[in-house]
Amino acid sequence: MEKVNIVLVGFGRVGRAFFDLLKEKYDYCRERYGLLLELRGIVRKKGTILLSSTQRVLSPSYFATEDLHDLAEWIPAITLSDLLEEFGSGVLVDCTPTNLITGEPGLSVMKMALEKGWHVVTASKGALVLKPEELKNLAKEKKLLIKASGATAAALPTLDIGMYSLAGTEILAIEGILNGTTNYILTRMAEGLTYKKALEEAQEKGIAEPDPSLDVEGWDTAAKMVLIANQVLGTELKLSDVKVSGIQGISHEVIDKAGKLGKILKLFGKCYRQGPDSAWKVEVGLALLDYEHPLARVDGTNKGIIFYTDSMGWVAVTGGKSDPRGAAAALLKDVISIYWHNF
Ligand SMILES: NC(=O)c1ccc[n+]([C@@H]2O[C@H](COP(=O)([O-])OP(=O)(O)OC[C@H]3O[C@@H](n4cnc5c(N)ncnc54)[C@H](OP(=O)(O)O)[C@@H]3O)[C@@H](O)[C@H]2O)c1
Repeated sequence: MEKVNIVLVGFGRVGRAFFDLLKEKYDYCRERYGLLLELRGIVRKKGTILLSSTQRVLSPSYFATEDLHDLAEWIPAITLSDLLEEFGSGVLVDCTPTNLITGEPGLSVMKMALEKGWHVVTASKGALVLKPEELKNLAKEKKLLIKASGATAAALPTLDIGMYSLAGTEILAIEGILNGTTNYILTRMAEGLTYKKALEEAQEKGIAEPDPSLDVEGWDTAAKMVLIANQVLGTELKLSDVKVSGIQGISHEVIDKAGKLGKILKLFGKCYRQGPDSAWKVEVGLALLDYEHPLARVDGTNKGIIFYTDSMGWVAVTGGKSDPRGAAAALLKDVISIYWHNF
């Protein structure tokens, strides 16, 4: 059995789902992988909670007195730095908000973890798209890992396919429908709704954020494509290298025209290069897909990715739960992948 210290930073939708999943899967991970996944502390903006072990959290007596979700005892005095030093090493799970302009708070959180000898598993995208070299070099210097499935379409496997399943192939191009909100809006528009109505519906269902700009302007897709390219192709692209256009305010005429041409309109992220010696480019924008395209039927909040290779042909994967629980499951998978030696 291997004991794994976990510190969770961020206790919003994804952080809470990760906490719940860790409790649910604690015994399964011990039996199946020989891993004792011990949550040592949770840090959020309003304070920190220190836990002696996941077992304590799991014990019925603990829950008989307090439900951690509503726990009032968030202690501002204990800092993340204190927690990381107290437990020495392990994995920090970052569920803080994504900021594509400053990369914070994820950037400071990840740097601190790596400097103190902790692996990082993250759901937030900002730091990795703004400072990919700095974080990669720091992790390399400290012989630690940064895993970002939670930030790259989460429950839809993207990095794992590119890194492991396609090892040894030359990847020629990557395309993806990587944002559930925009795909939902386009799907509902194809069914007759206006952009405004489709967006309102997505917001009512909790699919779209109250401020949906990162999604509808294409930046979320761009960030995911950059992360995938940097990991899978070894590029060092930044968000500022990407040509981005979104779907905001798209008219019904455009959707109708696509239908008349026998095509389907999708917000697509593309990574490609002109030839083996050319630089990789990432672009995000509306694409007209033939019905035969492997991603044409990816509807609603579903996502999909396709890799074009020299020796395995094209490989596409679609689906994956598009919600906080799906994101939490991707984080858990990344934690397991660091410590389970058969991965
Ligand atoms: N929602 C999804 O389905 C989904 C899917 C995949 C990836 N993601 C990514 O996952 C991340 C979290 O998303 P979410 O929906 O869970 O966000 P959220 O509900 O807004 O929660 C964010 C959490 O981060 C905490 N936080 C903010 N600043 C902090 C700081 N400086 N130090 C420590 N904690 C801080 C907040 O603390 P307080 O609670 O004290 O305010 C809150 O608990 C984002 O990067 C998002 O892009 C989300």
